[in-house]
Amino acid sequence: MLSWLSTRRSVRAFRADPVGREVLERVMEAATTAPSNTNRQPWRFAVVTSASGRRDIATAVRERAEEMKAIIRRGHHAEDFGNYGDFFHEPLESAAAIVVPQYREYPDLIANLLESGGANPKDFHTASAMQAELCSTSAACMTILLQAHAEGLGACWMAGPMVAKDRIGALLDIREPWRMVGAIALGWPAEEPKRQPRKGLERVVNWFEDTAGGGDTP
Ligand SMILES: Cc1cc2nc3c(=O)[nH]c(=O)nc-3n(C[C@H](O)[C@H](O)[C@H](O)COP(=O)(O)O)c2cc1C
Repeated sequence: MLSWLSTRRSVRAFRADPVGREVLERVMEAATTAPSNTNRQPWRFAVVTSASGRRDIATAVRERAEEMKAIIRRGHHAEDFGNYGDFFHEPLESAAAIVVPQYREYPDLIANLLESGGANPKDFHTASAMQAELCSTSAACMTILLQAHAEGLGACWMAGPMVAKDRIGALLDIREPWRMVGAIALGWPAEEPKRQPRKGLERVVNWFEDTAGGGDTP
């Protein structure tokens, strides 16, 4: 199981072959299996396969990235930015499908109940304190990446397209209360990216456990 997870890669170059509707439906079905706060399922997804739709999205992001590059070039950090701008749009250029995940917030039920009893809900840090709807939709994005991997597809979840949020929103009719959570480029892989290093457990996990002899296992 772990090897299946560790062989997933962010793929940024795709073959020209289309991805069938059946495969895409399984990938999107996977998204709906994600857990969500009070099972709100606060997500929806635009799945763009039309050539003109994909081209419009890629162009919108590329143009914004070029605009940013030109601005940064006027300062003293052009070298720091380097080719980084390409990461904003590169995977979109050859993707056979572009998924634009969206989430919406709902009234925080528990916060409202607390308020009705005279409390300041902020004192209790309810679900809204962790942006629970965004977290749920991020979990759905991860299941998309994992199902894509299971199907032999390549995928790249990208924050870059946010720079063209307004144009993409206009193209896909994304209006309040819906908010974009980046975009996911999907397609049959045309590259085998190297494994990116991961921080070791010793850097990211703090164990709080019973010391030897103090536990409740025999
Ligand atoms: C929220 C998020 C935003 C990302 N944004 C971009 C992006 O804009 N462009 C890109 O090429 N990759 C993007 N990535 C992919 C990361 O670069 C990639 O996950 C990371 O380098 C680890 O590589 P791996 O996914 O192959 O293990 C993003 C990943 C996540 C989770």
